Amino acid sequence: MKVNYKNWMPKGMVLGNLAVTCVLIIVTVLVGLAPIGGRNANELMRKYPLSNVTAVDYSEVSVAKAKDYNKELINQGRCKVQQGDVSALDFNEEYDLATAFETIYFWPGLEKCFTQVNKALKPGGTFMIVNEADGRDKASLQYEKIIEGMKCHTIETIEEALVKSGFSQVTSDHHESKPWITVIAKK
Ligand SMILES: C[S@@+](CC[C@H](N)C(=O)[O-])C[C@H]1O[C@@H](n2cnc3c(N)ncnc32)[C@H](O)[C@@H]1O
Repeated sequence: MKVNYKNWMPKGMVLGNLAVTCVLIIVTVLVGLAPIGGRNANELMRKYPLSNVTAVDYSEVSVAKAKDYNKELINQGRCKVQQGDVSALDFNEEYDLATAFETIYFWPGLEKCFTQVNKALKPGGTFMIVNEADGRDKASLQYEKIIEGMKCHTIETIEEALVKSGFSQVTSDHHESKPWITVIAKK
């Protein structure tokens, strides 16, 4: 599954001008595609120049790639990359924005994990989910069959889990021709 970051990520960034000083990125690199490793963290820090970013991924390889890609920002003290499972985050109302790009397919229970993200956000904080599969397109349903533990969720399923996890003001966007989706919610 290859994300067209150049065109898609800015399009997914329909966040407007949030006063973002602290960003939590859950999962930051695409293992195996070294050139884009850690790019989300980097892009967000460019979009929000006053922000500090924490990137979390449970894969040692992903964490190493993200650290390498963002080494300058890490040295400047603006970026932390840490290994961790989203179902057991240890943050308490620390972040203005949390993002999850192409990762919730693998999360062990949406409600359980979204509740952890909710806890990590400050009151009024924003959670943005971006997926390249909308839970209905043929290709991703094929991926589900061959990748163990993968589940492609529909917008409706994601929205329902967000509300059950304490989020409100849930809004979603679907690309006009591709199965690309963005779901944004407020704490
Ligand atoms: C398809 S990659 C996407 C990575 C990156 N967000 C991107 O768009 O390039 C999925 C990532 O999710 C991570 N991941 C899956 N389940 C996770 C969990 N429960 N906690 C933390 N990371 C997880 C994997 O290690 C992998 O790096």
